[in-house]
Formats: sequence, C-alpha cells, structure tokens
Amino acid sequence: MDTVVASIGGSILIPRSGGAGFIKRLAAVLVEASNEVRLFVVTGGGWVSRYYIDLGKEIGAGEDALDDVGIDPTRINGKILIMALGGRAHGSIVLDFDQAVEASKGGRIVVMAGTRPGQTTDAVAAQLSVKVKADRFVNATSVDGVYSDDPAKNPRAKRFPNMTFKELFEMCGGIEHKAGPHVVVDARAVDLLSHAKIKTIVVDGRDLDALRGALVSGECRGTVVEG
Ligand code: UTP
Repeated sequence: MDTVVASIGGSILIPRSGGAGFIKRLAAVLVEASNEVRLFVVTGGGWVSRYYIDLGKEIGAGEDALDDVGIDPTRINGKILIMALGGRAHGSIVLDFDQAVEASKGGRIVVMAGTRPGQTTDAVAAQLSVKVKADRFVNATSVDGVYSDDPAKNPRAKRFPNMTFKELFEMCGGIEHKAGPHVVVDARAVDLLSHAKIKTIVVDGRDLDALRGALVSGECRGTVVEG
C-alpha cells in the first residue's frame, strides 16, 4: 500500500461561504482514497489565517505572533475536516510527527496542521512526507498545476504537466521578486521533497476527480514534479 501525504490549502477546505457540501464531498474522496493508500492530511488556514495575520499586522504585532495567529485557523480547519471524516479519521489533530506515525497504525486517516512559527503547512506536510517515507506528496491547491506565469493574470500562461525539482525550486526563488511566476508550493517544502526524492503532485483540490487520481494512483490533471 502506498503512503500518501496531502497538503490541503485552507482556501480549498474553507471557502468564504457554503462550505459544508464541499467538505462532505472532499471527505468522501479522502475516505475512498484511504481504502487504497495509507493517508495523511495536513490542513492549511487559507483566508482565515490571512485575515488574522493582516489584523495583527495593523495592530503592530511581530512576526512570531503573526505566525501564531496564522497557525490557529489551520488547526480549526483540521478539526472541521476530522468531523467530516467521522470514524475514518484519528479523532484529534496531531502536532507531532512520531505521534502521526503511531496514530496511523490503526489504518485511520491522520490529520495534522500548523506546528510552529516560521513556515507554512506545506512545510509541515513535506516534513511529514520525509518522516513517513511517503510515495507521493499531493499539494491540493486552488490552481490545477504549476504555470509559467500567474494564470489569473496572464491568459497565455502555460501549465507544466511535468517538471523537475530543480525547475520548481528555481521558480520558487522567484516568489521573492514581485514579477516572478505564480508558485504554489513553498520553497522550504520543495527543498525537503527534492532531497528525499518524493514524487510531488500539484492538483486543483476543488476538482475532486483530479484529487482522487492524485491520491490513489498519482495520475491526474496537474503538475507532477520528480527527478
Ligand atoms: P498556511 O499553510 O495555510 O499558509 O498557513 P498558506 O500556504 O499561505 O495558505 P493556504 O492554506 O495554502 O491557502 C497560514 C499561516 O500560518 C502560519 C504562517 O504565517 C502561514 O502563512 N504557519 C502555518 C506557521 O507559522 N507555522 C506552521 O506550521 C503553519
């Protein structure tokens, strides 16, 4: 049985309105996938984290305090996902990698969230992937792959069906520069995944057929990063 770690962006998990129907459908896909693979999920904070981080910034808080308020929504989102997964999930959020391994032993889906300041949940998911020797890392986000430019702004942007870690890492370097391409996986996560040679798939998490394919077989519309 393959081991798969999925990083699910908060913006996918918690849309601004009408989220319950989607979360139930998403949970059904995760449960279905967990019959075929050993599954770990890490939940992001999305717009809820960004809302509190912006509020904290206006108040004048420092970086660690801002990260701290960003982390809490990732955990709330994880709890909501656990509710939707019902008995198929380990019953609480896990914040320690050894505990995640332990909790997965009964065959349940293990849900993790933000662990400490200074990173994003993609980095948590990458660290977890290394720990559990994942066969695949699935980044479920709001675009259907890695593009040559921001597809929301440039209609000519091209999606890469495949790319190497080196190519993705070079694009991540670009996020520091405002004019750089739109990159959907965080650089620290790419570095960890690249060193551990863990096949990485960027997929639109709202497209549940694509997500199912990415989780179960690694075959789907998206971008596959390896080599
Ligand atoms: P996310 O992982 O959700 O950030 O964490 P993101 O990638 O910007 O958003 P989505 O969910 O993929 O759309 C939200 C914020 O929480 C803090 C960081 O400030 C991050 O930007 N955070 C998260 C941490 O400090 N540590 C963690 O382990 C996770």
